[in-house]
Amino acid sequence: MTTYIGTATSRIDGIAKVTGTAKYAGEFNTDGLAYGAVVASTIAKGRIARIDVSEALRVPGVLDVLTHDNRPKLAESDDAWKDDVAPEVGKPFRPLYDDKVVFNGQPVALVLAEEWEIARFAASLVQVEYKQEPHATDLHAHRDTAVALERAKPRGNADKAFAAAPVRHEAEYFIPTEHHNPMELYASTAVWDGGGKLTVYDKTQGVQNVQRYLCKVFEMKPDDLRVMSPFMGGGFGSGLRPQYQVVLAVLGAKALERSVRLVLTRQQMYGLGYRPATIERLRLGAKADGTLDAISHEAIAITSRYEDFARNDTGWSGLLYKSATAAYVHKLARLDLPTAADQRAPGAATGVYALECAMDELAVALKLDPVELRLRCYSERDQNEDLPYSSKQLRECYRQGAEAFGWSERNPAPRSMRDGKELVGWGMATGVWEALQVPVTTRITLTANGHAEVASAVSDIGTGTYTVMAQVAADMLGVPIDNISVKLGDSSLPDSPVEGGSWMATSVAHAIAVTTDAIRADLLQYAQRQPNSPVGGLTADDVKLTNGAIVSKKDPSRTVSLADAMRHGGVERVEQTKANNFRPDFFTPGSHAHNTHSAVFAEVKIDEQLGVIRVTRVVNAVAAGRIINLKTGANQVSGGVVWGIGMALHEETSVDHRFGRVMNANIAEYHVPVHADVHDIKVIFVDEKDDEINPLGLKGLGEIGIVGVAAAIANAVYHATGTRVRDLPITLDKLRR
Ligand code: MOS
Repeated sequence: MTTYIGTATSRIDGIAKVTGTAKYAGEFNTDGLAYGAVVASTIAKGRIARIDVSEALRVPGVLDVLTHDNRPKLAESDDAWKDDVAPEVGKPFRPLYDDKVVFNGQPVALVLAEEWEIARFAASLVQVEYKQEPHATDLHAHRDTAVALERAKPRGNADKAFAAAPVRHEAEYFIPTEHHNPMELYASTAVWDGGGKLTVYDKTQGVQNVQRYLCKVFEMKPDDLRVMSPFMGGGFGSGLRPQYQVVLAVLGAKALERSVRLVLTRQQMYGLGYRPATIERLRLGAKADGTLDAISHEAIAITSRYEDFARNDTGWSGLLYKSATAAYVHKLARLDLPTAADQRAPGAATGVYALECAMDELAVALKLDPVELRLRCYSERDQNEDLPYSSKQLRECYRQGAEAFGWSERNPAPRSMRDGKELVGWGMATGVWEALQVPVTTRITLTANGHAEVASAVSDIGTGTYTVMAQVAADMLGVPIDNISVKLGDSSLPDSPVEGGSWMATSVAHAIAVTTDAIRADLLQYAQRQPNSPVGGLTADDVKLTNGAIVSKKDPSRTVSLADAMRHGGVERVEQTKANNFRPDFFTPGSHAHNTHSAVFAEVKIDEQLGVIRVTRVVNAVAAGRIINLKTGANQVSGGVVWGIGMALHEETSVDHRFGRVMNANIAEYHVPVHADVHDIKVIFVDEKDDEINPLGLKGLGEIGIVGVAAAIANAVYHATGTRVRDLPITLDKLRR
């Protein structure tokens, strides 16, 4: 029954992608397409005093320039601007709404022209005068203004326990603002279908979220507005919320009553959401034997003035390790910047970085091996909720990761290992993420020739959703994977929330399992209409679909082909539309904790004279339930490791606080790892059986791969050099200071 699930199946959309037939949001063509270009604010805070568009309008080919003064109507209530994943607290940003400027790089005008080059040139001619107001963008300078959120759930008296602990570690860690930098630029093509109807090709992680949002913002009916996103060139969380360019593309189409394409520039991508700069303060108190008495974790993160974006940075500290007491607080510094956003493993990438560096420092203080310390604090239960895990093979992650890495050869003394002119450092860290599930509906149509279409409004953000859906459907329907066609990324298809949180593969696979169960039941019923049916008297649980036929599980000689079953049923196809049913059958809230785990081992080699750091080896051992696709799965984890290398050594959005403006708004000066920075990455999937979480035993893989990586590298850098750098990225100047 599992020809495809659990194998290294290649991407079914791979050929379309490498041959260029896969189309992205900015590539859909239509007659009479006009092009937009955004003019962005050059101040961080204030009012627009005057916008002079006369020079721009004189450029031949310019059709219009929209500003807050002359734009078509937009909804007025905050509620209309709230998308499915907007922060609960706040007033969402509205592009070209009024004269207020709330961040540097905010769109203040939209030039519309016959050609993109004309639009972009004319945008440079728009003159904006501002009434500037004082702004604040520096977290370090304004950390004391941060407000604490009411979400702390303390355990015992952590302050007292820390003060009394025989071995203590206290330090502050820092993660700078990072931008997602997906390869594909933010783009929307709003196709004017006539009669006020629109089809919008948008770069998004959730087509129905964008559809609902646009319908509210423009007061349109869902039938009149279809949102499509068949492919996405990288999301990483940047496309969870609708971005402003989709509003502006539709605004332009409404103004011109024709189709409009708007693609942001790379520079303008830095005026969207970001992983918020965060200060993380950790206090760990331990006994001499390495058991924890106290964990305190305080995070201070950036958000905008207008929305409170906050994720769980601190809760991981209490969840992961056994400790008699724990205390956490998450604070927000509201600054004159756009609202922060989810970015791959939001909260965990940052919070667990701090926790796992602090644990390494505690291990040094205790003279304990870092793996041994984690084993002494190992918890079989979620310490926050005091719940058992549905499955937790973290111990195996430590064991298999350490073995594959050769950890037992490590000399614990800093600066003790060398390779020629280079210092060698070995570090490790734990990773943890949630195993989330969301309601997803799939529609499956199986025809008599054994071909099937699987459809849902899910997105494939590059993670391999198309392939995973085809694998599961092929196995469940008992047909070759080439017989499966997958339709997704279309708001008119059966319901799905945004793709994020590492929940999509699990949720949609489960929905397919439920839908194919219904198809199997239909087919059996049809087959049993045949007089003396070979499958007579059997229930749907007694049979499986395999090799294009219904087959008795007990007696494989009792079989009816799909074509015969449909013939006896008098139908040419069987269609079912069903949602996953993880509640209450397989997922009882409150009965178990559901998490994925990892153990990351990293080797760095550092040129002693120059301080240049290379991450020469990473082993990431992951426990994430059953793995549907070993190829796309390993690809997710190794991609996460590359992100972790960037987080540890390269990535940092630099703001000139005098102007509140990003200085390195380009991928020449915003550094991400390139091929030369990426060496040997080994991904291990630890066997983890989970009968409780869902019928297929699946968790998720999109985010666990990054968690812990930056800490493992930072710990390796300390081991190599004896210098502890706590503020990321670890650049050579910090090693030399
Ligand atoms: Mo993810 S940061 O939920 O796309």
